[in-house]
Amino acid sequence: MSPDTHHQSFNPALTQSRAPHVAIVGATGAVGVELLNCLESRDFPVASLKLLASPRSAGQKFSFRGQELVVEALDENSFNGVDLALFSAGSGVSKQYAPIAVKAGAVVVDNSSAFRMDPSVPLVVPEVNAGQIEGHAGIIANPNCVAIIATVPLQALHRRYSIRRIIASSYQAASGAGAAAMEELRASTAAWLEGKAYEPKVMRHPYAFNLFSHDSAVDPATGYNGEETKVVMEMRRILDAPELPVNITCIRVPVLRAHAISLTVEFAEPVTPEAARALLEGAPGVRVVDDVENNHFPMPNEATGQGDVLAGRIRRDISDASGKSLSLFVAGDQLLKGAALNAVQIAERIFRA
Ligand SMILES: NC(=O)c1ccc[n+]([C@@H]2O[C@H](COP(=O)([O-])OP(=O)(O)OC[C@H]3O[C@@H](n4cnc5c(N)ncnc54)[C@H](OP(=O)(O)O)[C@@H]3O)[C@@H](O)[C@H]2O)c1
Repeated sequence: MSPDTHHQSFNPALTQSRAPHVAIVGATGAVGVELLNCLESRDFPVASLKLLASPRSAGQKFSFRGQELVVEALDENSFNGVDLALFSAGSGVSKQYAPIAVKAGAVVVDNSSAFRMDPSVPLVVPEVNAGQIEGHAGIIANPNCVAIIATVPLQALHRRYSIRRIIASSYQAASGAGAAAMEELRASTAAWLEGKAYEPKVMRHPYAFNLFSHDSAVDPATGYNGEETKVVMEMRRILDAPELPVNITCIRVPVLRAHAISLTVEFAEPVTPEAARALLEGAPGVRVVDDVENNHFPMPNEATGQGDVLAGRIRRDISDASGKSLSLFVAGDQLLKGAALNAVQIAERIFRA
């Protein structure tokens, strides 16, 4: 999409001056439901709220601030009168409908990967690069969940010590693949415990008591899957380090919700675990969980429902004698900070300024 398309009917003065009329596209999905919760729990100013999904779930009802809202089927007229459209219905839907929403005068915050690498679309984690929001021309992209959860703590270290290289492994929850994947984990685990057969419908492999390489396709040319490539490209964009060497292995684990990531990071200068811990303790959006005595470090079940990214296991990388490398382990609720919360935080910068 060209920048001109975004600029056509975007009117920032209009959208900032009053509580917006809001639409959630994909309101019935794993992220969509959390978008609704975040708007409510954060007391986001809302003049009216429209819930949109496919015709399959038109008529479903949700409650918002004590009012019953009925899901409508998305169509080309859905955005008339809408000031803010929060998209989380997959990249095909975003590619087709986000330009229509912008043309109708809405600001779009898009959770899909559709526009993340479009140079005219800011890719924003508010704790890291909120300044990019100003330059938007109608669409702002919410990054990949692993990229968000990694960059929130890394940014604090990058600002002070300048990151030179990242090697990571992710442990990704079922919720990252949507509501149907969460149901598959529940159902296949129940079947396994009852000794019954279970035929996977969403994942390619048995999910109960198993883990496997991320379900996105592997590019035979690079050996990296789609998720890994997204994380590498997006982390570079968010950290404004286009050449940063990043290597990640993305693994799907049988956790219902919240991703964890192991990070080994090389810096331009030596850094001690104590100095890194102190920086992370003061970093916005980060909570240090690093209790060595009790072996208590970030865990998905403690990250679930939390807005902060948990960071711990902060230690020297003993394979690098220069003292310039650290390892750490982080966990974050990717339905919240990795998706819905981050999107609402972006919208707050525009409509609550
Ligand atoms: N899950 C995560 O942690 C996460 C994190 C970051 C970004 N994202 C992105 O957010 C988006 C949604 O993910 P999700 O996990 O919430 O998926 P999900 O649980 O499968 O939900 C998908 C939503 O999209 C709607 N939808 C599907 N096709 C549609 C169509 N043709 N027209 C209108 N609505 C349609 C669905 O409505 P119906 O109920 O009618 O089918 C549902 O509301 C994806 O782009 C995903 O990549 C997800």
